[in-house]
Amino acid sequence: MAYTRLSDANEITARYMDSILIQERLIDSVTADISTEFFGERFDTPVMTPAFSHLGKYNGRELTGLEEYSVAAKNCNALNFCGMMENDMFQKIVDTGAKTVRIVKPYADNGKVRDQMQFAESVGAFGIGMDIDHIFGENGYDVVIGEEMTYQTSEMLHSYVTSTKLPFVVKGVLSVSDALKCADIGAKAIIVSHHHGRLPYAVPPMMVLPDIKAALQGKDVKIIVDCGISSGADVYKALALGADAAAVGRSMLPALEKDGALGVEKFIRSVGNELRFIMSSTGFAKVSEVDASLLVLLRYKI
Ligand SMILES: Cc1cc2nc3c(=O)[nH]c(=O)nc-3n(C[C@H](O)[C@H](O)[C@H](O)COP(=O)(O)O)c2cc1C
Repeated sequence: MAYTRLSDANEITARYMDSILIQERLIDSVTADISTEFFGERFDTPVMTPAFSHLGKYNGRELTGLEEYSVAAKNCNALNFCGMMENDMFQKIVDTGAKTVRIVKPYADNGKVRDQMQFAESVGAFGIGMDIDHIFGENGYDVVIGEEMTYQTSEMLHSYVTSTKLPFVVKGVLSVSDALKCADIGAKAIIVSHHHGRLPYAVPPMMVLPDIKAALQGKDVKIIVDCGISSGADVYKALALGADAAAVGRSMLPALEKDGALGVEKFIRSVGNELRFIMSSTGFAKVSEVDASLLVLLRYKI
């Protein structure tokens, strides 16, 4: 029988998420509150923006896509993320007023890592972090748009944590082993992610989430999930399986391209509205209460 190999982690992730079904619990339920607390601040939604980079200006508009989605995050009172960029671009993102976590690349030039983290703190970033899933590439250490990356040890990560007063976020955690190391080095949050499928056959973040949640029990580490999140149902499943929040990513790009900040704002609100509807329909009044008791797993068919 013909058999197609399925190495694309994006597809494996989508299939896994779609194999999780939701029961209802309507009697005695009320309209849910989707606001949430993160690093001591109140946000109106657990839906976050992704750590994106390299988005230019769409349709001749004045702001880059990076600034436009940051404006949307601000208007939605959602936690904002951004990725690889130079300090002048990060300044523009901070200027939008969005509470932003800057994810710095694991540059081989460690001075650049430290400079970008210090700059972020000096101009009012909400948090800083690093995407550790961009260390390796097919020829050894990765090269991203001409810039070389390098290994990151626990000691290096710990030194970033102690160099700042800001919460430190490790992005690209996909195992209990790395999650525990993040807790040990003093990270305040992890993003469970395979960085849109960089690793062939990467486990779906939601599949590994319950184990990570259990391993981090009692430790002061928030859990965010990304990869393939495009609806309130996806965010609900992430919360139910152990996340505190979820970031939309490429799913917001059509709205961003077409309608800029307003489009992304509408998109984030619609994802939140669907989340509220599902939480209400499953009897969870608050984000922190959502658990996996009403999830049913279809047989995962490859
Ligand atoms: C255009 C683009 C740029 C990105 N740049 C970065 C980056 O600089 N740093 C980073 O940590 N992740 C970056 N990512 C990865 C996203 O933050 C996210 O992990 C990934 O897209 C998975 O989520 P998705 O499936 O919802 O898109 C980028 C993704 C895209 C599509």
